[in-house]
Amino acid sequence: MIRVSEHRFRDASQLTNTTIYISEVIEEDYGLYIWPSSIVLAEYIWQQKDRFAGVQVLELGAGTGLPGIVAAKLGAHVILTDVENNSKVFENASRNCEQNAVDCKILGLTWGDWDSSTLDIKPDIVLGADVLYNASDFDDLFATVASLLQKKPEAVFITAYEPRSGHRSIEFLMVKWKLQCIKLLDAHEILPPEKLSLISSSIEIVEIKTL
Ligand SMILES: C[S@@+](CC[C@H](N)C(=O)[O-])C[C@H]1O[C@@H](n2cnc3c(N)ncnc32)[C@H](O)[C@@H]1O
Repeated sequence: MIRVSEHRFRDASQLTNTTIYISEVIEEDYGLYIWPSSIVLAEYIWQQKDRFAGVQVLELGAGTGLPGIVAAKLGAHVILTDVENNSKVFENASRNCEQNAVDCKILGLTWGDWDSSTLDIKPDIVLGADVLYNASDFDDLFATVASLLQKKPEAVFITAYEPRSGHRSIEFLMVKWKLQCIKLLDAHEILPPEKLSLISSSIEIVEIKTL
């Protein structure tokens, strides 16, 4: 079963208001429906729109692709990635790009694995919504983030996540992979009132760069 959710993005001028439509497949696969962190990350991207025009963006663990699709609407060249060979997730992400009239590239990228198709990618901004949930994947995820960021000195990883557990291992891995946190915000600081009710848990937005 597929349901379509509507995500509205507003600003003070009302001139650039946008609505994104996301198909969610009601099946037991984490990548087939929207997680609250992606609503937060997409809103953060919308509010930071000047950073996204014309830049190269890669989203890790993109699932339905909401944050990347918002970045594409703002003029970024976007690659949505998720675990390799997950055809249902890729089909759904592709449908979401089509129904929002954006042209994102869709690619298999399993954290910690590299092949020739990913080696050449040099993103300005790496995105990840709710990709820090399984502590056994953290090392591979940070290895991938570090490898992507080191290709451009100003590249940044922007992630929104629910601080569940594994904080210590995140701090340890940031040191191991020579990364630093340059910004930390609580979702409540940026969400408009109509979106606050969609978020029941605490969600943080973090910006990370290489040391
Ligand atoms: C909790 S879901 C979040 C999905 C989406 N970003 C969102 O917030 O709605 C985690 C996503 O990471 C992907 N994922 C999990 N393990 C992965 C791995 N080892 N390599 C690449 N992607 C992975 C899943 O397929 C899924 O799409």
